[in-house]
Amino acid sequence: MSARPLLIAQISDLHIKQPGERAYLQVDTAEALTRCITELNRLKPRPDLVVISGDLVDTPLAAEYDHLKTLLAPLEIEFAAIPGNHDNRELMRAALPYLGYAQSRGALNSVHKVGGVDIVLLDSTVPGAHHGELDAATLRWLDATLGASITRPALLFVHHPPFRTGITHMDEINMHNAGHLAALMRKHPRARMVAAGHVHRPTLTTFAGVAATICPAPSHAVALDLDGHMPASFMIEPPAFHVHAYFEDENFGRIVTHNVPIGEFDGPYPFSDSEGNFL
Ligand SMILES: [Fe+2]
Repeated sequence: MSARPLLIAQISDLHIKQPGERAYLQVDTAEALTRCITELNRLKPRPDLVVISGDLVDTPLAAEYDHLKTLLAPLEIEFAAIPGNHDNRELMRAALPYLGYAQSRGALNSVHKVGGVDIVLLDSTVPGAHHGELDAATLRWLDATLGASITRPALLFVHHPPFRTGITHMDEINMHNAGHLAALMRKHPRARMVAAGHVHRPTLTTFAGVAATICPAPSHAVALDLDGHMPASFMIEPPAFHVHAYFEDENFGRIVTHNVPIGEFDGPYPFSDSEGNFL
């Protein structure tokens, strides 16, 4: 067993605008991302990879991707990314051409080997639409990618959750062909987790028999409305991101997801004195 788990940080839904603009006229998403990067850079131990799970920019515009690149420059950890419904594949590919995309056109899928684990990023965007779907080429690629090994665990990242949350206006634009993803995950049991974004809230469930999560955003959260009593709204809640800790074992390992709040907090204070007595 390794001394520390393999660590994959996940940040999501950055919604970067042009300099000086606020998302929905309210949210300074650039400042939020800068605070998030400060938090990532001071994590000890350092994550092995940062995955950005979609909605990198907001409109989308080439100038927003330029701003994003400026804001990401201080990040001291390697990152990989997939688009969300607020992104544009061509603009993102042009702005971030070095992220290891598996196909030279269309969906921005990629796979990254981190230690003994494969990090599989799936592009669930549908050009011109807000809901998600894995297109035929992506499903074929996923089948082949997962089929390339029967021993290495694989962690899947995708923008659109393949499950309902109870927030109706978001569920209407989740992944519409989640059954295809479930079938491939059951066919390839090395797929150990699916981690999504899109809903801007920390959310946990299971999908195809493994853990399924949604990562919160560094800026705004979709309001928690589980009975449709209000129009689609957002809240400024405590910003956060996820750190997925992968512990090796004799099977496909164990994944524990930590929710990490972003901000300046009091502490740390020791629990006990130098003799081990509780203070
Ligand atoms: Fe978003």
